[in-house]
Amino acid sequence: MAYNHFLAQPSSNSNNSAIILGIESSCDETALAIIRGNHYQRPTILAENMFSQIKAHAPYGGVVPEIAARAHAEKIPYLLEDILDKAQINISDIHAVAATSEPGLIGGVLVGLMVAKGICVAHNKPLIAVNHLEGHALSPQITQDVPFPYLLLLASGGHCQILIVYDINNYELIGTTIDDSAGEAFDKVAKMLDIGFPGGPIVEQYAQYGDENAFMLPRPLCKTNVPNFSFSGLKTAVLRHIETNQYINKNDLCASFQAAISDCFINRMTLAMQIFKDKTQANQLRCVVAGGVAANQYICQNLQLLCQKKQFKFFAPPLQYCTDNGVMIAYAGLQHFLRGSSSTLDYKAKARAPLGEKT
Ligand code: KG4
Ligand code: ZN
Repeated sequence: MAYNHFLAQPSSNSNNSAIILGIESSCDETALAIIRGNHYQRPTILAENMFSQIKAHAPYGGVVPEIAARAHAEKIPYLLEDILDKAQINISDIHAVAATSEPGLIGGVLVGLMVAKGICVAHNKPLIAVNHLEGHALSPQITQDVPFPYLLLLASGGHCQILIVYDINNYELIGTTIDDSAGEAFDKVAKMLDIGFPGGPIVEQYAQYGDENAFMLPRPLCKTNVPNFSFSGLKTAVLRHIETNQYINKNDLCASFQAAISDCFINRMTLAMQIFKDKTQANQLRCVVAGGVAANQYICQNLQLLCQKKQFKFFAPPLQYCTDNGVMIAYAGLQHFLRGSSSTLDYKAKARAPLGEKT
């Protein structure tokens, strides 16, 4: 049974600007944003806010799904009140509500999606269910002109994938991790070294003062000709060094680990660039890195160098839009709204949802 008749549809006059509320709740950030945009210009961010649950999860060295879901439920009403206040608009001025509907920790996703559905029913607005990965995939476009098609390295806590982004709703998966994601590996290494959570930014800080050649670490899958990743063995190799050495220089180990991840990215992206050229025949070569791991400056610099060498133009979102945020969900929602598409009220939250089929 479809409940579509309860909801307004996106206006057919999508040449006008639309105001979109975005809700992100798939992991440990409760984040909202209100943006205004149209087909022609970069969006205007009217307001954004976020509650980071890091403190609640830190004692466990990882995100605890039950704690995350409860915290989203507790915080969203306050964040909603605050964001309307900051944007100085009434909820009835919003044209549609976009919420992360997949993939993610299901309790949190359900909370955000149900709040969005509630607002849509109460105020007769279209609902736009957004794939969180699409939020990351489009995130560089929030502040820069990044025309389609582009090659995308999506490296976050939950995913590590290489995709060709042809358009909204048109993604081709050309490589993926066969075990852990890169962000997960950063977090686990930080946990092994007992240096804090989330691991990525902390490992990056330690690595700044370390020697990346101090420890021999593997570059898994780097001799294979499909651009997949594997980080589980790398993580185990780090653990072996910790177990077998009485004293560990944490800076050196972090630097060696970060260099191994970066080398894997460079090796796999070199392969992916050729695939991108063959598949798209594009004149303009563009490469994007997005997701939490894109906040890593060492990794970005190396990817940028690779792009220079291969004549790809390099893009990354600004730091605050690399990790989870509400603006990227509002922006992806805006793109769907401008194309006249929305979701039915019975849209189901999903823990897993790929972006693009594997070729
Ligand atoms: O995109 P994101 O906020 O959440 C998911 O969608 O998963 O990514 C979070 C991940 C975490 O694993 C975190 O350790 C990693 O991104 N991360 C980083 C850095 N900042 C965040 N990894 C490496 N270097 C960083 N500076
Ligand atoms: Zn994310």
